[in-house]
Formats: sequence, C-alpha cells, structure tokens
Amino acid sequence: MKKCKVIFQPEGKKVQTVSGVTIAALAAECGVRLEVPCGAVGKCGKCRVEVSKGEGVSAPDGEETALLSKEELEKGIRLACRTKITGNTVISIPRSSRLQTQKILDVGIQTEVKLVPAVKKIFYKESPGESDLPVKFSGNIGELANSTMVFSTADSELLTIEHGDTTAILYGMAFDVGTTTVVGTLVDLKTGTVKATAADMNPQVVYGDDVISRLNFCLENKNGLAELNKKVVDVINKLIKEACKEAKTTPDNIYDIILCGNTTMEHLLLKTDPKPLATYPFISTLTQSMNKRKASEIGVNINKKSYVRIFPVIGGWVGGDTLGVILATNLYKTTHMKLAIDIGTNGEVVLGNKDRLVAASCAAGPAFEGAHIRSGMRASKGAIEKIDLLDGRIICQTIGDAAPVGFCGSGLIDAMALLVENGIVEDTGRIKDKSELPAELPAEIKEKLVEHENGNEFMFTGSISLNQKDVREIQLAKGAMLAGIKILMNELGIKADDIVEILLAGAFGNYIRAEKALAIGLIPQVALKKIIFCGNAAEEGARKALLSIDLRKDVEEIAKAVKYVDLSASPLFQDIFAESMMFHRNI
Ligand code: FES
Repeated sequence: MKKCKVIFQPEGKKVQTVSGVTIAALAAECGVRLEVPCGAVGKCGKCRVEVSKGEGVSAPDGEETALLSKEELEKGIRLACRTKITGNTVISIPRSSRLQTQKILDVGIQTEVKLVPAVKKIFYKESPGESDLPVKFSGNIGELANSTMVFSTADSELLTIEHGDTTAILYGMAFDVGTTTVVGTLVDLKTGTVKATAADMNPQVVYGDDVISRLNFCLENKNGLAELNKKVVDVINKLIKEACKEAKTTPDNIYDIILCGNTTMEHLLLKTDPKPLATYPFISTLTQSMNKRKASEIGVNINKKSYVRIFPVIGGWVGGDTLGVILATNLYKTTHMKLAIDIGTNGEVVLGNKDRLVAASCAAGPAFEGAHIRSGMRASKGAIEKIDLLDGRIICQTIGDAAPVGFCGSGLIDAMALLVENGIVEDTGRIKDKSELPAELPAEIKEKLVEHENGNEFMFTGSISLNQKDVREIQLAKGAMLAGIKILMNELGIKADDIVEILLAGAFGNYIRAEKALAIGLIPQVALKKIIFCGNAAEEGARKALLSIDLRKDVEEIAKAVKYVDLSASPLFQDIFAESMMFHRNI
C-alpha cells in the first residue's frame, strides 16, 4: 500500500496514512472533528469536504454523484465517508461539516434523597476490637491503629485501608452516558451534596449519530467494540478529571460510580457483544440486575479498590437511562397516571403509575437532533432554536445569538409548527402550492414559498429551509413517537384525558416549547399546565442511586416490574403509525 501525506485544513494538521483509507476514517483516527451523521454510509450528504484540486483521492462513486451536484464535484467537494485517499492531498473541512460541541443539558430535577451510601469510612485511632469491625477483616487487626477502613455497605466487603484519618474525603460520581453526550456529577457521599458537574460530547459520534450506526460499526469491524468502548471510557475518565479539578480533589478519592445509558451504550461500556441487539429479534443480553464491575475492569480511573455499577435494562431497546427517568420522577410511586417521554437521539416512553408501568422505545431516529434534515444541525452555536411569526415577520433566535447556520431540534419543531399553524403545510405533510396558501397570510410569508417540480420548499432565511423531504423526515420521527405513546395507552386502556402529567425529559425534551409540540401533534393533547420539563432525568436517576443503596434495589425491582412493549410486534402498529404521522392534533 502506498504511503500518503494528508493535510487537514483549516487547522493545518499533517498526517501520514496509506492509500485506500476514507477521509472520514482518517479524520476519526487522527482526531479531526468531522460530522458523520449517517455513520459514514453515504446517505446523509453531511460529511462534505473540499479536496484541493481533486488530487490524491478516488473518483466519485454512485452515492457521491447522487448527493453532490455537478458544480460541487467540479469544485472538489466530496463526501468524506465515500472518498478514499490515493495520494498526497489537502482536505478542507467547512464549518458546516465540522463536528460542533452540542449544548449539553447537565441538570435535572433535583429531588431529596435519604443518604444511604454504598461506601463508608471508619477511622480507628487505636486498634479496634473484632466486634468494632463493620466487615470481615483477615489482616492483622493491630495494624488498624491510626488507619481508616473503607468498606462497601452494599457488599459488606472491605475495600481498602488508608493511613491516618481520611474520613473527611469520600466522593462518588453518577453518569448518564448518552448516544450524543456524556454527563457526570461528582457528589460528596458524606453529605449528598453535588460538588461538580462535567459534560462532553460522546466521542463515538465520529462513527455516526445514532445507535444503529454504532452497532453496525461493531458488527463490521473486528475491533469495533473495543474501539467504541475505549472512546466512551476515555471520555468518562476525562470528565472524572475535570470534575475532580473543579472540586479540588483527585480521582483516587472517588470510591463509587453509578452509570446509566441506553441499551446500546451499556453494551458498549460493558464490552458486551451487541450482535443480539443489532440483529433480529433484537434482544439485549444485559439483565435486569445491576451490573457490578471493579473500576479497573471497566478501565475507569478512580480509587483502584472501588466498584462501578451500571444500571440494568428493562428489555429490548429500553435501557438503564429509562430506569433513571423512572427513578428520578418517582413514576413508580405515583398514584396518578403519568407519561414520561425521554427524547434524545432515540425516544423512550413510559406510561403508568405505581400499579403498572409499560415502556417502549420509539424508532424516532436522530431527526430531532438535526440529522436527515437538509438544514438540520446539532444544538450548537448558530443553530436556530426558536422561531416566531411576529407582525408578518419570521423571527429566528439562534444559540449564542450567532448568524443562523441551521435548525436544531427545538427550532425544527417551531419551524414545523409555523408551517402547520399558518396553513402552509397540510395535515398530510404536503407543502402547499402558492395558489393554495390562505388568503390572509402576509405577502412576505407567501414569498418564502418556493415551488419545485418534486415538492415545494419554505425558506426561513436566505439559505435555511424545509423542503418536502425534510417534512417527511419530521413526520416519520413524530409519527414513531406518537405511535409508541398510543400503543402504550391502548395497552393500559386509557385516553389522553386520563393522563395527569406529561414529563418531558432529555435534552431535546427540555428545550422544545410545549405549545409547539402540541401544535404538530407530537405528544397527546393535554392542557399546557400538565406538561412538566424534568431536564436530564436519567442523570438525576443515576445520582439518586449513587446516594442510596435502597434506591438501587428499587432500580432492580422497577427493571423487572416494567412491561417492555415491542412496538414492531404490535399488529396495530402500521395503522397507528400512519395515522400518527398526520399533523393534526389527533389524540
Ligand atoms: S454521507 Fe457521509 S456521513 Fe453521511
């Protein structure tokens, strides 16, 4: 294989590689930040790069000629996931293709927890008597004088002996490992107070935005599982360091970690073969018991003698993060009928109360995170997050008040609501022709509609628009969410009126405007005051479990008690899904 020199612009990073490697794979390998939303399979067209003079790369393949215009190809614009390096070359990554750091939701509803930590410390000034020992000790008891015993109350096990009195130092960390972001909270286990929070993107995003891309990467690459596992463990260790720095302590002083994530993330964390999850009948091999591992076994750099616990899963695609939401919101204790919706890169829904809970995972895909939408993007600087129609003018509010670059999830919902509420889009999702627009619509708004032969397009700014294909993608995502909710409602035999509260969790859920979600029929039609935002509830659930071994037992019991509903197995799914794609307020 030929050796090739590649320069990535604008940072001027010089790397050596061998011919045959794709630009996307090389970028991932050498830490160049590049978006690959579809998992580098040539479907989304969002990994556009510019190859200087078109030299040193393979000829365009079918996917590239389908997704790129003739003019773009002539200018050297290529898809990084399809183009292979064949010689020395210079590759420029435009801003629109650079992996942006997403606005991360790191706070959840803060609830009171009775502190029953899994790790405790006792200091012995003098040698203790046998009966003073909280756990079995096989060493020389005389050597315990002027020492601190660190022990696990969860396992009645000695963890370590420390010299002197270290009882003032006892930390734990709770993590929510999401498909897109990872959030960790450092907690003082003596008081239960939060000392620091650290968050970052999940570095696995360079292998694709959704869990399917990650699973495919594992199946198609011999070292895929190890590679993805290393990425997520590395970011956890980075966040541990950052949180410790903020709290002026060291990772050695962390004695307990609780992690939760969706089923795929937990498989990758535990280095468990995800093949059964990725292939029919899509079964999780993780159990409904807490996964306990030595920190060193997982590769997490905290006190060497400590354990890491990873939440169990409910079943199928409904994982530990949903258990976190149930724990955080006390859904399993309430007498009222409540619906919790965790909209992240995927959508999980749980319905019920203390008597019965049902849960499902909706294949909403990452459309609400901007993927598969031509002008879609992550919730990062320049993303339109809010849209209003005021005095005949469209007002777009962007993250960081920067010039608009595209829509993030909340902006997409607002954009869609504007089109639906103003009669620009039919209930079926068809963008109307100009002649069909309501007469009362201001002329400036009518002018924003551009007619094309293969479906119309509505321009929100000079270059940011929703076209017919984008609207269909939004319909598919919202249809999947709503169909999942309706099937759970059927399962419990209830109607929208019976729902006392809708709890919106997750980053996307937290930033959307409830009235806009209602306007496009994304969620059941309830009074606005019944919609409660609960922030990063999964992370809050992990924090609660960190503080209490009793709540850890609750987590295992909830995992067994919640009924997992496999939506694809429901004979009603296709009909309900088709009906749920409509934009009217249909439940
Ligand atoms: S087309 Fe390259 S990542 Fe989607």
